Amino acid sequence: MVCLGNICRSPLAEGILKHKLKAKNIEAFVDSAGTGGYHIDALPDERSIAIAKKYDIDITDQRARKLRSVDFTDFDLIFAMDTYNYQDLKKMTKDGEEVKVKMILNESHPGKNMSVPDPYYGGKDGFENVYQMLNLACDKILENYFKLKM
Ligand code: 4NP
Repeated sequence: MVCLGNICRSPLAEGILKHKLKAKNIEAFVDSAGTGGYHIDALPDERSIAIAKKYDIDITDQRARKLRSVDFTDFDLIFAMDTYNYQDLKKMTKDGEEVKVKMILNESHPGKNMSVPDPYYGGKDGFENVYQMLNLACDKILENYFKLKM
């Protein structure tokens, strides 16, 4: 799961997907990172922590990190939160790796290339909206890649 800062959107996406996989007893390695390195080692934004907690998900074990080129070999799927992240990710790929990079909302809204809005400078309502978008997209990840009916 990749966003810009790895403190708002992608930590939520990581937490939500891990939560769903655990509930279904599926083992898969899920992680998140930022294309920017502004918040390395920081906890998720307190508003992301709060919205996750509202839905019984604890994301306080997460610390922000910057995307590494090795991530493109280590991971099978790389989900970008918005079109900027997507373009940055695509620029970093080597031969054959570009097929791993997806826009996360294309899982729930195929072909629309919609972005998860950056909630960083907004109020707390933005985080509820982001949560709902990511929750639906993560259900679709389980359906589309793990062949589960959600
Ligand atoms: P995120 O949100 O990419 O969803 O983690 C942001 C966090 C920090 C900044 C921008 C977006 N920032 O400019 O510091």
